Amino acid sequence: MKKFFVCALLASLLAAVPAFAKKSYVNGIDPNYPPFAYMDEKTGQAAGFDVDSLNWIAKTMGVEITHKPMAWDGIIPALLAKQIDMVGSGMSITPERSKMVQFSDPYWTVSRVFLVPADSKLTPEDILSQKIKLGVQRGTSEANAIKQEQQEKGYPFELRFYESAPLAVEDLLNGRIQAALMDELPADDAITKGRAVKKAGTHGKPDGFGVALRKDDKELRALIDEGYRKLMADPYWKELQKKYLNK
Ligand code: ARG
Repeated sequence: MKKFFVCALLASLLAAVPAFAKKSYVNGIDPNYPPFAYMDEKTGQAAGFDVDSLNWIAKTMGVEITHKPMAWDGIIPALLAKQIDMVGSGMSITPERSKMVQFSDPYWTVSRVFLVPADSKLTPEDILSQKIKLGVQRGTSEANAIKQEQQEKGYPFELRFYESAPLAVEDLLNGRIQAALMDELPADDAITKGRAVKKAGTHGKPDGFGVALRKDDKELRALIDEGYRKLMADPYWKELQKKYLNK
């Protein structure tokens, strides 16, 4: 018992010396993006596929990663301003973002879908050719892609912007919008939670998700890539998919 306390004391003393302290990193998350990242109502802690993946990687790689909830819209500026060190929160790897940040190797692929009320008859073709209101999450790759497509092709819908995907689902249910475009997993999440919505079909190419890092942060990039390689080779990777993604 005594030995234990001496060891614990020694460990905490050593941790206070910078050279022996565990490296500590802050991951910025959108707390309203289940199943990738959200705040668990029971524990009050960040949870989700990306959060648990990074927690496992931190443990395995001997570093500390904490999760900081923030607005999705300002998450890349926060990364560049060093308020956070990474964004592991369902972020698509896009050419526009890659001009400002670097991405880890992709760890997941998702399709984009149109979500409509359960009793809606709208098809993807209707959504693109009618004067409906279409909801998207502000600052997302799908919002930028559909905005650009609309400019190029003159689609007649009116775009409505939301802080989070669940808020767009609320407005679908109360009839303020007729369809919403989002990643397939948050759409599935709304359906599993019993919201009266359904997928009308996919739109565009699937996106790869990666962890966003500052461009000069080579050390963290290597750590995250190595961490995901280890995670993907571990049975826990399958477990996480079962737990969060119904795979
Ligand atoms: N895949 C889209 C993007 O990268 C939506 C992601 C939204 N993710 C989130 N955590 N809010 O922009």
